[in-house]
Amino acid sequence: MTSCPIISSHGAAIPAIGLGTWPLKGETCELAVATALAAGYRHIDTASMYGNEAEVGRGIRSSNIQREQIFLTTKVWRDDIADGKLQRSAERSLKALDLPYVDLLLIHWPNASIPVAQSIKALCDAKRRGLARHIGVSNHTTALLAEALQSASEPLVCNQVEYHPHLDQRKVMAATHAAGMAMAAYCPLGRGDTGGVLREPVVLSIAKAHGKTAAQVVIRWHLQQPGVVVIPKSATPSRIRENYQVFDFALMPAEVAAISSLAKPGSRIVQPTGAPQWD
Ligand SMILES: NC(=O)c1ccc[n+]([C@@H]2O[C@H](COP(=O)([O-])OP(=O)(O)OC[C@H]3O[C@@H](n4cnc5c(N)ncnc54)[C@H](OP(=O)(O)O)[C@@H]3O)[C@@H](O)[C@H]2O)c1
Repeated sequence: MTSCPIISSHGAAIPAIGLGTWPLKGETCELAVATALAAGYRHIDTASMYGNEAEVGRGIRSSNIQREQIFLTTKVWRDDIADGKLQRSAERSLKALDLPYVDLLLIHWPNASIPVAQSIKALCDAKRRGLARHIGVSNHTTALLAEALQSASEPLVCNQVEYHPHLDQRKVMAATHAAGMAMAAYCPLGRGDTGGVLREPVVLSIAKAHGKTAAQVVIRWHLQQPGVVVIPKSATPSRIRENYQVFDFALMPAEVAAISSLAKPGSRIVQPTGAPQWD
């Protein structure tokens, strides 16, 4: 792996590293997107709920990189996933981004008061209308994913879920990959300095052995798992570049296993009210 892998799913070609953009706003967001694209990233992750789609669109345009070379994801907030509302949310996102389509449109969170079949039908309709090249889901458990797949008349290409060395996601990963979908890892760094992942002695000693940083080791750990996409966020230009400089070293299988063994119960970071019953 000497350059960023592309994860293929049902015709989608998803660059395995994307820039996460929550909670970036304003000029910081625009600069982060432009910095990432200049550093080589070709994948940007946003959402209508982040309130930064206009900035993301400006960052893309200011990079002077052709739109077709960039894989752009946005998401529909869970209050907006009823039929009709979902399509209107996607239209608003495109208006804010000032772009004619996104590459991937995700249902951000399931909503227990809206039937899965209804929201997936609306999502497929948004794709057929050309608002998105590809569609998928986020925060879907194995049970919700199975329901979504049953209702989908268009391929679902991605399930975006929390995933870092402290959180065992083997069940949902197996179900996601069994459907031929990519699994995108959010909070891949366990939220950086505010979490403990980057301070783990195992991670630090592997980083020292390779002459890399803890963040680079954790990003590399994600990349060495087939079908996994990783979307670290940083507002700091040097860190944005650092997080992409991960193609000049490789972890040994024992190092990957040692990092995976850091998983422990109670490590979920994102657990809002109304979250589904996790696997
Ligand atoms: N689908 C969902 O429900 C969902 C939920 C959460 C997140 N997401 C997406 O996933 C993206 C990533 O998740 P996240 O932002 O929650 O967590 P994260 O990427 O694990 O961590 C971000 C934190 O790590 C720090 N950081 C970044 N690079 C670093 C480095 N090289 N060394 C040390 N610290 C570093 C950042 O600090 P600085 O910014 O100060 O550099 C920031 O505080 C989000 O931005 C968003 O796009 C999706």
